Amino acid sequence: MSTPTSPTPSLKVQNTPHACDVLVIGSGAAGLSLALHIAKYAKVTVLSKGSLKEGSTWYAQGGIAAVLDDQDSTESHVKDTLAAGAGLCHTDAVEFTVARSKSAIKWLVELGVDFTRSAEGEFHLTREGGHSHRRIIHSADATGKAVHTGLINNAINHPNITLQENRVALDLIQQPDPSSQKLRCVGAYVLNRDDDTMECYTAKAVVLASGGASKVYLYSSNPDSASGDGIAMAWRAGCRIGNMEFNQFHPTCLYHPKAKSFLMTEALRGEGAILKRPNGERFMQDFHPMAELAPRDVVARAIDHEMKRLGAPCMYLDISHRDPDFIQEHFPTVLAQCLKYGIDITQEPIPVVPAAHYTCGGVVVNTRGQTDLNNLYAIGETSFTGLHGANRMASNSLLECIVYAQSAAEDIIAKLATTTPAQPCKPWDETQVTNSDEDVVIYHNWDEIRRFMWDYVGIVRTHKRLERALRRVELLQTEIHEYYAHYKISSDLIELRNLAMVAELIIRSAMERKESRGLHFSLDHPNQSDTPKDTLLVPRNFADQKVFITP
Ligand code: FAD
Ligand code: SIN
Repeated sequence: MSTPTSPTPSLKVQNTPHACDVLVIGSGAAGLSLALHIAKYAKVTVLSKGSLKEGSTWYAQGGIAAVLDDQDSTESHVKDTLAAGAGLCHTDAVEFTVARSKSAIKWLVELGVDFTRSAEGEFHLTREGGHSHRRIIHSADATGKAVHTGLINNAINHPNITLQENRVALDLIQQPDPSSQKLRCVGAYVLNRDDDTMECYTAKAVVLASGGASKVYLYSSNPDSASGDGIAMAWRAGCRIGNMEFNQFHPTCLYHPKAKSFLMTEALRGEGAILKRPNGERFMQDFHPMAELAPRDVVARAIDHEMKRLGAPCMYLDISHRDPDFIQEHFPTVLAQCLKYGIDITQEPIPVVPAAHYTCGGVVVNTRGQTDLNNLYAIGETSFTGLHGANRMASNSLLECIVYAQSAAEDIIAKLATTTPAQPCKPWDETQVTNSDEDVVIYHNWDEIRRFMWDYVGIVRTHKRLERALRRVELLQTEIHEYYAHYKISSDLIELRNLAMVAELIIRSAMERKESRGLHFSLDHPNQSDTPKDTLLVPRNFADQKVFITP
């Protein structure tokens, strides 16, 4: 949600459909990678709800996990991922992803992505939590920017790729599938924010690459775009959503009244940074044998525990014992950002707090990115592949984006020639709604959701808190639904509706889990069950059961 503006302007409906072969909703690492693979064979349209760069990809810092060192092995990367995932990773998805890590990096290098090299010209590999080897390839501490720039540069002038900024997908369009007697996805209704028209995009295949949902929490490392739109759209379209209770909290975001949750990359700890109490004592060794390099859920919980125990507003991350030249070379972004707030990380510890960072759950897909709805794919943070289990291991996310973008693209390309184009879509009907006269409802509800999610559905949960959160979100859902039914659509309203939806999915998933595992920690069920099980939420209109009857 952007800053409050004047009341919603009148919306025009533009019912001429935009048709393409493949519609991609999202221009991050996942969406653009898929577009580049498809564009060799077909026409792709990529939508971004803000600027092309405004997703999590641009802000990624630490790097991409990949087996690139002779001393490392896919077995070891798989083993570490499974351990970090606390027994809930799908081994097939982990093996599938890790086996493709080297070729994913090769592809990025061929696109021109500039990764940091050592003095000898080899790729410099850093370490992060949960990894037993140095296997994080990076571009100093701004890897996302380097990867995204490479992808954008290749996509921007491609004759088969149309990039459209300021287009907010609202809902998916379904029609009978002539090849299966089920429904299939044929496009999306999209709000054009440039001229406030509602447009209809049709395609033979639709790909959700719309990122995560961490903005559902008050404090988050994510950009504003992370409102879970893809997850909410897929749910409304009848797709199963998995493991939403596992929202990852990054242990170390900058704590400063003027900083909007700026991340302190885990690579700092990989290169020796130490977590300290306000009195300067180190504490992570009391919580895990890997200390600062323990899996992320453990570190975030330890910081939360110490903050609550000591009544401290933050803990401290200290890398000042390393050589200032090394810090400048490896962490120029973090160094500069902290200096802006008067903190010189070469001389003093950095105040840090945990913040919502990554959505481990999402739209249920297989290794080809297929969802429950025919011709609808989901890739990247929007999807639930089974790779991350109950806790994503650092730097496995960008890897998942690149690997699944390729496998989904291959599946789509193989089917395009035999897929019939969509029928004309039903025009968007605006006749029953009026202009909103009270946009304050949107801002108030947006704020309320994020606050109760932080307070009641955060790092440590109880059944009572979850029940409280559920009551509130149900009430808000009713209010938002009424608002949605009576007033014209704005992008803030689209995001609010989705945010409330994913909040409900997170709460319901958390209530289903009667144990503590990975990122889900419940004081009522502190132990881990012996039988790991995914939480799969099945919508009432489950796509797999929706069979259309030929008249
Ligand atoms: P995003 O990059 O978030 O892109 C989502 C896209 O969808 C955007 O273009 C957005 O505009 C668009 N969109 C959303 N909704 C709509 C809609 N309704 N209509 C149209 N478009 C829409 N992972 C790592 O592996 N390594 C790291 O070092 C790392 N560091 C991170 C640091 C930070 C600060 C953050 C926030 C995340 C980090 N992550 C890291 C996680 C990783 O960056 C993300 O998981 C990954 O970039 C997600 O890519 P994506 O393509 O799925 O989504
Ligand atoms: C970081 O740099 O700490 C983020 C890495 C990640 O989220 O994978």
